[in-house]
Amino acid sequence: MYLYLSLIFTIFGVVVSLSTTKTKEDVRIVGGEDIDITEAPYQVSLFKRGRHSCGGSIIANDIIITAAHCVVDTIPRDYLVRVGSSSTQRGGELYPVGDLIWHSNFTYLKMDSDVALLWLTKPIQFREGVAPIEMLKQGQEIQDGDIAKVTGWGNLREGGGYPSTLQMVLVPTVSSRDCSAAYSAMYSITSTMLCAGVPEGGKDACQGDSGGPMAYDGKLAGVVSWGLGCARPNYPGVYAKISALRNWIDESTTLLRRRHPQTLFQFKILDKLFKL
Ligand SMILES: *[C@@H]1O[C@H](CO)[C@@H](O)[C@H](O)[C@H]1NC(C)=O
Repeated sequence: MYLYLSLIFTIFGVVVSLSTTKTKEDVRIVGGEDIDITEAPYQVSLFKRGRHSCGGSIIANDIIITAAHCVVDTIPRDYLVRVGSSSTQRGGELYPVGDLIWHSNFTYLKMDSDVALLWLTKPIQFREGVAPIEMLKQGQEIQDGDIAKVTGWGNLREGGGYPSTLQMVLVPTVSSRDCSAAYSAMYSITSTMLCAGVPEGGKDACQGDSGGPMAYDGKLAGVVSWGLGCARPNYPGVYAKISALRNWIDESTTLLRRRHPQTLFQFKILDKLFKL
């Protein structure tokens, strides 16, 4: 998430400045714990011009899913994807991004359909700590209150502090009715959004986690998208909802692969030229 600081500061600056809710200071992802990449082997770090910018998830050996707001109006060359490391700085393997696509309904104003796909110029080699995650199917709903697993290298608290190791937090999903009620004055919670959080706050994704995975029962259920601040009481985190966007994901995966019919030939050449 989180766009939200910058986004809401700009658009809803008044609301934010009037808000006096407190954040917990002694917490991670926010409110999570260190994990090893083998516990979330689908997690990737999106490296933009040399620094971690967003999270993402491996959904196939050539496709990464992330948030639209992470990549909108940028070009593939801006990115490298780090897989197989618990750190954003070292270890694992780096893969160049050859193409990207974001959902055409995404706008910063509404944050609807906040999902994007990256196509890699070289297929990912799966191993321990590097594996794809299955996604929920279109229309496959999870229950309100189901516990989701959110991971990333985002801020440990609102406004600062990056972890050196991957963080994980467990948060219950929140009904869209309750989530809409929480955000009614600012944003509408659309059918492509899924909310999660605890009423007392203290557990959430935060800036730098955007684009990363929310998993339920080992399947991708959401993509970290936005929220008001991080881990504030009564403001759940908001995620792009895979079960509402799955058709777009499948169609766009096909589209990306069709744009690169020479892929197999390229892989062979690249293998010879670079040790990526
Ligand atoms: C964009 O949003 C409109 C209105 O909700 C919807 O009918 C349309 O299917 C969406 N487009 C895509 C590509 O999902």
